[in-house]
Amino acid sequence: MEYATLGKTGLRVSRVGIGCWQMANDGSWGSGATDEESIATIQHAETLGINLLDTSASYGNGHSEVVIGRALKDRRGRFIVATKVKPLPGAPGDEAARQEIVDILEGSLKRLQSDYVDILQLHRDPDEPTMAVVMDTLAELKRQGKVRWYGISANNTQLIRQLQALGELSVVQVGYNMINRGGESTLALANAENLGTLIRMPLASGALAGKYFKAQPNMTGDDPRKSRFESERGVAALKRLSDLRFLTEGGRRTMVQAALRFILDTDGVTSVIPGAKNRKQLEENAAAADVPPLSPEERSRAMLIAGEVGSISSLGLIQS
Ligand SMILES: NC(=O)c1ccc[n+]([C@@H]2O[C@H](COP(=O)([O-])OP(=O)(O)OC[C@H]3O[C@@H](n4cnc5c(N)ncnc54)[C@H](OP(=O)(O)O)[C@@H]3O)[C@@H](O)[C@H]2O)c1
Repeated sequence: MEYATLGKTGLRVSRVGIGCWQMANDGSWGSGATDEESIATIQHAETLGINLLDTSASYGNGHSEVVIGRALKDRRGRFIVATKVKPLPGAPGDEAARQEIVDILEGSLKRLQSDYVDILQLHRDPDEPTMAVVMDTLAELKRQGKVRWYGISANNTQLIRQLQALGELSVVQVGYNMINRGGESTLALANAENLGTLIRMPLASGALAGKYFKAQPNMTGDDPRKSRFESERGVAALKRLSDLRFLTEGGRRTMVQAALRFILDTDGVTSVIPGAKNRKQLEENAAAADVPPLSPEERSRAMLIAGEVGSISSLGLIQS
């Protein structure tokens, strides 16, 4: 496993973490693991050198945090837990906006069975009138020791600068993958300002996993990805993605590892947080830190193919 310093937090994080939306167990986007397998997956992470978990108070209405709390019961201090809170819109200085963040965090702490979170990220852009109160509340929670560091999940440089003008911001969660590289301006800002970055949707929700090189997707009726992956354009796009197979030639790396390695070698990236549904997926993802980097020629060819896919389909779409 590779490790890196998460910007100005100074935290040493594994460069491959786990996106824990998959542990929501509620049928929402990307979920689908049983609690038993999720707990085993988190506990297995330690043996692979992974110490970074990303979740949210809203994944499964808190269920993902419950699962993490159970998994980390006797090992909390060995993991860096990043969770998220959705701020309410409101009026300037709005007490309700402050209270909402405090209440949501209290719920997260209970579910996580912890008296602190390492990183608290805003899971929705705060509206202009409440920005100051939101930033003040985060600073206060840090002073109280309930939050070690905070940041935002957003591909929006203007918003990040606005928030920085109102206080400290240490971590940005950026949506970025080989198909949709729109996050590069945010990564450049993060690089310049020494902000730690966590990369969400690195496998384009599974489209970049290589499993559709041979077989067309056949998702269950309630899989929220079904319409995106199985539409005519989605199927055509997945077919084009199979041209990325050259990245795996000679058994140097799997497609999953190529997609993650591509991101790990992008300027401004600290860690990727691919969602893992089980230990097998986790092992493959973790090993991305150890496979050979893509050569400049491989990178250019991959960007050409995946970029085309982004222009003909919604496969690389970054969810807000
Ligand atoms: N607004 C936000 O802040 C936001 C939004 C989205 C995501 N996130 C975070 O980012 C994390 C990752 O994003 P994501 O889950 O949307 O997308 P992702 O990581 O690009 O894709 C995850 C999906 O890829 C497949 N997969 C993962 N590892 C695999 C492997 N080794 N082999 C084959 N398939 C594999 C799994 O689906 P199948 O097995 O079903 O194919 C999994 O559900 C989330 O868990 C969450 O923590 C945050």
